[in-house]
Amino acid sequence: MRIDPSRPIGVFDSGIGGLTVVRALMERLPFEHIVYFGDTARVPYGVKSVETIAHYTTQITQFLLEKQVKTLIIACNTMASVAAQTVCDLSPVPVLDVIEAGAYMAAAATHTGRIGVIGTPTTVNSNAYARAIHAQRNDARIYSQACPLFVPLVEEGWLEHEVTRLTALEYLRPVLAEDIDTLVLGCTHYPLIKPLLQDVVGQDVQLVDSAEAMAERTAALLAQHGLLNESRAQPCYEYYVTDVPVKFQTIGERFLGRSLSPIHVVKWQDK
Ligand code: DGL
Repeated sequence: MRIDPSRPIGVFDSGIGGLTVVRALMERLPFEHIVYFGDTARVPYGVKSVETIAHYTTQITQFLLEKQVKTLIIACNTMASVAAQTVCDLSPVPVLDVIEAGAYMAAAATHTGRIGVIGTPTTVNSNAYARAIHAQRNDARIYSQACPLFVPLVEEGWLEHEVTRLTALEYLRPVLAEDIDTLVLGCTHYPLIKPLLQDVVGQDVQLVDSAEAMAERTAALLAQHGLLNESRAQPCYEYYVTDVPVKFQTIGERFLGRSLSPIHVVKWQDK
């Protein structure tokens, strides 16, 4: 199938957290059109069952394929960890996910092979990062920790707050006790507390930002498939969400680092 390189990149997430990936894509690939889908009516996914997540993922994939995207980026670590195959089975265009990208960067970054991974409970329970890192480097030792409180703390805007720092200290203590030299931020929300996390883990531990990793991998994938947009015109950005909650604009713009428009609300019967 011949894909038109001027088509948009499709990026999706359980909510607005995936805008950290969009922000990294805008910086790394400034001439690419982007269509973003955030399932704001049904977030969080990180505590839902695999069946439910797979069902939601199918709906979103079909929606973005109808928008004629040239590639699909699974920005949500939770969806990537349990439903990446669902997306690949449905998609005629190349698919990339944050876990693959983060694992690749972590394997390249570590010197000792001792890697920590933090994410939602579903991501951590799936063991997807451990599998993906081992595929790159089979002698790696992976130490995972679910950090469910980070998502609401970030959404509250407590990016530098003492409560967030104490929460991070508590969550990261067991992982740090394993003498890791690399820590994967395996959730869309965590790049926003990267300075605080770096402070807590110390300068000797390298943080792998899954959003940045994703942008690098996307650039490589598009180049490899001859899919980079050659136009140097101002690109179009479109945002689709399933709900516009209170504080949506503030939180969304914090994730994106710029104004968030135009936003379209998609109403699905099946919630
Ligand atoms: N987007 C999710 C992730 O990256 C975090 C929010 C959620 O639980 O849905 O894992």
